[in-house]
Amino acid sequence: MRILFLTHAFNSLTQRLYVELAALGHQLAVEFDINDSVTQEAVALFRPHLILAPYLRRAIPPEIWRQHVCLIVHPGIVGDRGPSALDWAIHHGESEWGVTLLQAEMAMDAGPVWAAATFVMRPAMKSSLYRNEVTEAAVRAVRAALQKLPDYLAGHWRPQQLPLQPMHPLLRQEDRAIDWSRDTTARALTHLRAADGFPGVRDTLFGQPCQLFNAHAYAASGEPGAILGRAGEGVVRATIDGAVWLGHVKRLDTAIKLPCVAAFPEAAALPELTPNVDEIEYCESGEIGYLSFNFYNGAMGTSACERLLAAFAAAKSRPTKVIVLLGGEDFFSNGLDLNRIEAAASPADESWRNINAMDDLCAAIIHTQDRLTVSALRGNAGAGGAYLALAADYVWARRGVVLNPHYKNMGNLYGSEYWRYLLPRRVGEPRAKEIMRRRLPLGATEAVEIGFIDASFGDDWQDFDLTLRARAEAIAHAPNFTAQLAAKQHRRAADEASKPLATYRAEELKQMQRNFFGFDPSYHIARHHFVQKTPASWTPRHLAIHRETSWAIPD
Ligand code: COA
Repeated sequence: MRILFLTHAFNSLTQRLYVELAALGHQLAVEFDINDSVTQEAVALFRPHLILAPYLRRAIPPEIWRQHVCLIVHPGIVGDRGPSALDWAIHHGESEWGVTLLQAEMAMDAGPVWAAATFVMRPAMKSSLYRNEVTEAAVRAVRAALQKLPDYLAGHWRPQQLPLQPMHPLLRQEDRAIDWSRDTTARALTHLRAADGFPGVRDTLFGQPCQLFNAHAYAASGEPGAILGRAGEGVVRATIDGAVWLGHVKRLDTAIKLPCVAAFPEAAALPELTPNVDEIEYCESGEIGYLSFNFYNGAMGTSACERLLAAFAAAKSRPTKVIVLLGGEDFFSNGLDLNRIEAAASPADESWRNINAMDDLCAAIIHTQDRLTVSALRGNAGAGGAYLALAADYVWARRGVVLNPHYKNMGNLYGSEYWRYLLPRRVGEPRAKEIMRRRLPLGATEAVEIGFIDASFGDDWQDFDLTLRARAEAIAHAPNFTAQLAAKQHRRAADEASKPLATYRAEELKQMQRNFFGFDPSYHIARHHFVQKTPASWTPRHLAIHRETSWAIPD
């Protein structure tokens, strides 16, 4: 079937559905929802059997939904209507929530129901629920709806029209506000969780209006509303019965989401408190060391890379046989921290420092000769973060993980992290070129098929965690462990003799230097738009295949 994705952006949910439906053999095209005439043009060119809207901020024009089946992925249970669905669910303390696939009609979220799926709510940030539970439920609902489509088109089945429920209004900043003089930690956290990712909770810090993101409870007390100190890169603020740690903030004057201490120089003067959640954690089980690095949004700035390198070196000083790199909970890694680069006095210089710190980290993993290494991707990885994963000997991913192992979407960035070494040795030179050229997301299953990673397993996070630990144990206790290690050392030595790792790095960095300091400002422009979240004004051609001159509808 031809399926057109009509979406505000090619976000994680859209990408996940894209890889799932591509794997089912459907022909897919994407059109960003820019205006009605552009959408109509896309529909006329692609002539889809189905229009799927995973992430829309506007209504679909009636001329389209009257003539085509348009299914909207609504992040709410059956009967729920209106914007801010997940935000309201968190505010209301729902214990179970879901995703409903509705057919587009004149009234918002009022169309007949094609499919639905539910999940148990977790006390987590909205963005995390969206990337995990909502995404998995959406996949289940879309799969169920697709099975009904042939019967619908043949006139044998009609979706269920439910009685219309009242619609939730948009959750406004007034509803999201925290009253620091009256609110408990639990209430403040509910508001912060429901606003995480976008739009944040509007507040004031150090006299500056800003939006707050990324928070957790902190064991401290003080005068309600007072900033008690800084812990890690966040600040701790008292509530009436405790405190919350505020990790990230977007000042209204700069509009760049940054760690609190980076956004506010005033934070440096605060008393330093012990962080009660560390981004980097190391633990051991038998002869296996597990290193997790839960950087917000998977962004790894210069200091994050340096701290992780030090933690990796410390892990290597331990008497283990295997080191497992776990990445973060929601993202394994998304490479350079583009927000920090954007906020730097010289973004070009900061980009250079950041890529060198990232390369140092990758080199340390590749050069590890006395034990085996594993990258275990619980969450998605993009750009340099995907190649950081490939620096390990084994790469495993949770089945629902989506990889974006390419750089060009960021203003034609060449990329480093030794990808010229790591990629062709796994998939061969022609496919390496193809991956970089296509710039498309790669699902974990397909990534295994082409040899990009070694294995994908685990239907959910817990399942993945249990299995990866069992697999790591199996490696550590394999009868041929010593032989495996010897083979790894032999291969590295042979690779080094054929082309030193330093040469790969120098070649890549020469290209990156052009991207950062050269005449072509594409990378700086693309990064600026990415950080500022500038709405798209056109759909990239690699997604809008119907706009290619070679596009022709198959007979
Ligand atoms: N630096 C800073 N922030 C980043 C980031 C990075 N490298 N990668 C992702 N983010 C942020 C996004 O801005 C977004 O922020 P929000 O919390 O304000 O919404 C959040 O992480 C989630 O990203 P999003 O794009 O919504 O996730 P996605 O799963 O839909 O898409 C990617 C994943 C990897 C395709 C996309 O984030 C991306 O292109 N990232 C940039 C990768 C890159 O070019 N890195 C530099 C070269 S190594």
